[in-house]
Amino acid sequence: MEATIRIVRGDITRQEVDAVVNAANTSLLGGGGVDGAIHRAAGPGLLEECRRIGGCPTGEARMTGGHLLSARFVIHTVGPVWQGGGHGEEELLAKCYRNSLRLALEHGAASLAFPSISTGAYGFPIERACRIALAEVSGFLRDHGAPALVLFVCFSAEDYGTYTEAWDRLRPCVTSAR
Ligand code: APR
Repeated sequence: MEATIRIVRGDITRQEVDAVVNAANTSLLGGGGVDGAIHRAAGPGLLEECRRIGGCPTGEARMTGGHLLSARFVIHTVGPVWQGGGHGEEELLAKCYRNSLRLALEHGAASLAFPSISTGAYGFPIERACRIALAEVSGFLRDHGAPALVLFVCFSAEDYGTYTEAWDRLRPCVTSAR
């Protein structure tokens, strides 16, 4: 079955998927934005599980249960803080998407929802971030054929517009590359 990428507007905590990706920090002890929303929706059990993990380096990902979320899993990944582009930020962001997809595959998650990692508090310019995100995910799906469904969940109308424009430009290249 062909894997599908879909760009949606909404709240990642309300997506009906097997795994949601959290835009966490290296402590994994919660925060604002997506991190705050996921911890609020998942309940205190998520923080307790995260405490036992003991942190996550930037660019890597760690998996927990979904707790009170409808998702079975939460994949916590730590995006880079934007420092102008000369500190390996683009490769670290690409690693977040690759490592999250790898964990989803290893645990049999057939559907996955990504937020726009690093483009909020971490200041990564969204036009660059979404191109990296879409290229990494489409490349992974081409190579592995799974997960079957990957959602990019955009919280604002502006982010949704940026992602859909980028995907409209990139999609003809990746689908014809098969
Ligand atoms: N659902 C989907 N997207 C959301 C939600 C939500 N409920 N809440 C916020 N967003 C969007 C933001 O609008 C932004 O586009 O997620 C994107 C990422 O923003 P942040 O959550 O600020 O994540 P990031 O930029 O990676 O910064 C991570 O912020 O919350 C802290 O603990 C976190 O220190 C870490 C840092």
